[in-house]
Amino acid sequence: MTVVRTPLVVGNWKMNGSFEANRALIEALLIALAQKTAPDVGVCPPFPYLPQVGALLAGTNVRWGAQTVCEHRTGAYTGQVSASMLRDLGCTYAIVGHSERRQFCGETDEQVSLQAVAALDSGLTPIICVGESAEEEAAGKTLAVIDRQLAPVLATLAGVADEGKGVVIAYEPVWAIGTGKTPTPEGVQAVHAHIRERLMAAGLVQTRILYGGSVKGSNAATLFALPDVDGGLIGGAALDALDFSTICTAAAIRAV
Ligand code: 13P
Repeated sequence: MTVVRTPLVVGNWKMNGSFEANRALIEALLIALAQKTAPDVGVCPPFPYLPQVGALLAGTNVRWGAQTVCEHRTGAYTGQVSASMLRDLGCTYAIVGHSERRQFCGETDEQVSLQAVAALDSGLTPIICVGESAEEEAAGKTLAVIDRQLAPVLATLAGVADEGKGVVIAYEPVWAIGTGKTPTPEGVQAVHAHIRERLMAAGLVQTRILYGGSVKGSNAATLFALPDVDGGLIGGAALDALDFSTICTAAAIRAV
């Protein structure tokens, strides 16, 4: 069977936005994308803006999603949002295990794997983030960290029906997020190839692996040309319609 992994570019807006800014950004993005060949594209605004962004994107090719999801289905979890609620809001994606959630909210590898399962069970595509800190990178522990983070995810997801098509992994070195630094292309490819090996061994042959961390219009084409990079998870540049659309085009070109 031939495996075709359609490139995917997702904007993680983090805690940014307002009704006015979101409208301007989405309108500019739709105009910019209309003139270009786009891959699969998604945006993940903060929870309160999902209805607004969903309404603005309805009927377009751009999907939307959340920046996290609760691992529990329902009940006494004050402040949490469940996967089925996100489905009610028309979400396609749910980012889970972003390094900022791991760092600021104490999310664990096991919790992240349960969030991914909760997302999948509600028909959402989880975008599962992994990546090493600067200290771990300096100590040569990158692959060990990735393996530790992936282990519970692979254990719970191995054998999912669609060979992992409805699952996305994002490799985001923590030290590359919002810093303007990126690993060398060889460094990115080496980590992605390692993740691919682990996914293949678990039968997740269709799973896409995104790179995230200081992706811009200027470096996207180089990163997306790497054989095991299937697109990007974009932070700062996703707040600029032109830059984000340039990144989307870079991924689309790779698809050809
Ligand atoms: P930047 O693109 O701003 O480095 O952020 C990456 C990121 O954290 C996306 O989830």
